[in-house]
Amino acid sequence: MSNIATADFTNHQYQGFSLAPSALSPRLLELRFDEATVNAFLEATAEWPVQALEYKSFLRFRVAQTLNDLCGQALQPLLINTLVDRDTGALLITPEGLNQVEQAEDMVKFTTAVAHLFGRSNFDAMSGQYYARFVVQNQDNSDSYLRQAHRVMELHNDGTYVEQDTDYVLMLKIDEQNMEGGNSLLLHLDDWEHLDRFYADPMASREMRWAAPPSKNTTKDVYHAVFDTDRSGKPIMSYIDQFVQPRNYEEGVWLADLSDAIETSSKQLSVRVPTGSFLLINNHFWLHGRDKFIAHDGLRRELMRQRGYFTHAKTLKNPNQG
Ligand SMILES: [Fe+2]
Repeated sequence: MSNIATADFTNHQYQGFSLAPSALSPRLLELRFDEATVNAFLEATAEWPVQALEYKSFLRFRVAQTLNDLCGQALQPLLINTLVDRDTGALLITPEGLNQVEQAEDMVKFTTAVAHLFGRSNFDAMSGQYYARFVVQNQDNSDSYLRQAHRVMELHNDGTYVEQDTDYVLMLKIDEQNMEGGNSLLLHLDDWEHLDRFYADPMASREMRWAAPPSKNTTKDVYHAVFDTDRSGKPIMSYIDQFVQPRNYEEGVWLADLSDAIETSSKQLSVRVPTGSFLLINNHFWLHGRDKFIAHDGLRRELMRQRGYFTHAKTLKNPNQG
């Protein structure tokens, strides 16, 4: 591996923020906003609580513009380019000084500003908003692994069972109490040892059925293959183990093999996301998941997600392949 071009724009101090490759992988970039930038942003947008951003979609773009202005307009092109760059496509973003659960509203506002510089967040059927906040606790009776603490949430792509394009996923840590373990897991397709074998298999392009459990508030099944090809001819994936519904033995066994080959990959990155920080990834060539936690009665973790489509770059999907 290390023919990854470390682009010139990394390891730089920009107006309002800095950028450097993560020690975990040169594919993951760490972007830190200065506390002064964060405070200036919150001051400039104080008139709009998150509710205002929920009610008026265009205000999400106004707060994005405000943040970009504070960064001398360098932030927007950097985000656009990084997210579609096959060699990177992932950021761990930290707004300095925004790290207490009491600041949750400000965290949501800040992530909204970042997301709307390159995209537009989709309606989230779980929350009925353009984002979803959810809590993971020691006890949970939900019908998927999203909120269950004591097991790995396997690597997957988001948006597999909806018809909207899901080009990016943004995952914010709002709160974390008594947590041990639970790192975010990431795998870049080009790092995965078994990509060539599975992508070359005829089953890779077999149309399969995807259906979600009731909590996801989606009623319609969708049909697509696990693999697709992007505009530059590279493999992309749309896969999640819990919601794919194989129609027969052949599909079922292939999917079980695929799951094993993903979960046993030695190329997974285990990323600790501190409170107030968020991961932002290209959902087509990065898989994401979550490691298990150690049980604790006082365990509490609150997260927020936004998923959406790129507005400033053409979707990576090949237009000839649905
Ligand atoms: Fe996910």
